[in-house]
Amino acid sequence: MAVLPKHQHKGIGSRLVEKGLEVCLSQGHQAVVVLGHPEFYPRFGFLSSTQYSITSEYDVPPEVFMVKELLQGALAGHAGIAKYHHLFNEL
Ligand SMILES: CC(C)(COP(=O)(O)OP(=O)(O)OC[C@H]1O[C@@H](n2cnc3c(N)ncnc32)[C@H](O)[C@@H]1OP(=O)(O)O)[C@@H](O)C(=O)NCCC(=O)NCCS
Repeated sequence: MAVLPKHQHKGIGSRLVEKGLEVCLSQGHQAVVVLGHPEFYPRFGFLSSTQYSITSEYDVPPEVFMVKELLQGALAGHAGIAKYHHLFNEL
């Protein structure tokens, strides 16, 4: 996700995240993972992945890999590795 520098700090990034989470929930997804700034995503309810048994397929510091349950308890009893779309590897 990115907002052009001249448009940053106007709430656009927050609205994109909030809308994205809303759409994911409406499509029936129960949880979302993100690789991102650990100072930005917790404000939307993302927690460090260390609180779940979910890891990333990428070798990244645990604090930048975050998880948000869209339905409380959705990940209880689940463990695994988050796999990304192959296009993500080309970034
Ligand atoms: C992160 C980004 C999408 C935020 O978009 P935005 O439209 O500026 O976000 P908002 O205006 O809704 O929110 C701004 C808040 O995000 C915080 N923020 C922005 N970039 C941040 C960063 N790199 N680390 C931590 N916090 C950040 C700001 O401090 C601000 O906090 P405040 O509301 O307490 O002042 C934007 O800064 C961006 O495009 N950055 C470059 C690309 C990038 O790093 N993308 C994220 C990949 S996970």
